[in-house]
Amino acid sequence: MAKIYAIANQKGGVGKSTTAQSLAAGLYDLGKKVLLIDLDPQSNLSVLCGATTDDKDSNVVTMLEILVGEQPLSAGIQNKDKYDIIPASMFLASIDGRLTDPISKPFKLQETLKGKVNKYDVVIIDTPPALGTITANAIIAADEVIMPAQADILSLQGVSQLYNTIETARGYCNKKLKVTGILLTRYNERTRLSKDLTLMFENAAAQMSSKVFKNKIRDNTAVKEAQAKGEDIFTYDNKCNAAKDYRALINEIFVEEVK
Ligand SMILES: Nc1ncnc2c1ncn2[C@@H]1O[C@H](COP(=O)(O)OP(=O)(O)O)[C@@H](O)[C@H]1O
Ligand SMILES: [Mg+2]
Repeated sequence: MAKIYAIANQKGGVGKSTTAQSLAAGLYDLGKKVLLIDLDPQSNLSVLCGATTDDKDSNVVTMLEILVGEQPLSAGIQNKDKYDIIPASMFLASIDGRLTDPISKPFKLQETLKGKVNKYDVVIIDTPPALGTITANAIIAADEVIMPAQADILSLQGVSQLYNTIETARGYCNKKLKVTGILLTRYNERTRLSKDLTLMFENAAAQMSSKVFKNKIRDNTAVKEAQAKGEDIFTYDNKCNAAKDYRALINEIFVEEVK
């Protein structure tokens, strides 16, 4: 059975999409079959992964048509070298109006994935920078949530707001939902502030019975260079700091944890 991870933090620019792609590419090197699902109307992950999006081809099937029930999940899957991906749509932002039944709204993704992703080892859902219907769908469909955050106070605030949503999901409909951990991204270990904030994130994580991942992702211009070239971080430069950090993180989550 595929394990489903949501990558979430309603703060923008904290490395959610970068992390989603890097996890998928790194898991490929471990022989794992991964499905990426892009739920952000900005479609950053789709573009990073070289998927066809609806602004290039209006006939392409995206998560919008799938969530509103016009198309099956299988119709949206695009095969890339290292993983499969279903793109987002710029019109996903209007999903609230398209899903008219108020009770079933946040359950659409869960319903769609049920029994349909068994051929994958891991499903990774990228979410938008907001705590609305789309993120609710991701959190209800997920087994675990990974929270990328930058070592700044607004990111910390994002984490605690997201945690309230997770607690609600646990209380009402997803009892077993786990917070895998908080991932510090764009990290600069040399600054005093980073150290102080890391302690604050560790306190926040402890309150959620979770942790800050031991492996943090350093700030590294190779990330932007890889993205500009349309490559994942391992293809671009397998030895750069970000590739090393993401590889160590994948080991921490997917190898050490399951022992
Ligand atoms: N480790 C890193 N080092 C340097 N830049 C990074 C790193 N991780 C992400 N970025 C950059 O930060 C920006 C935001 O990242 P992104 O993954 O799009 O965040 P989000 O999906 O949370 O909005 C992007 O321009 C990306 O290239
Ligand atoms: Mg993003």
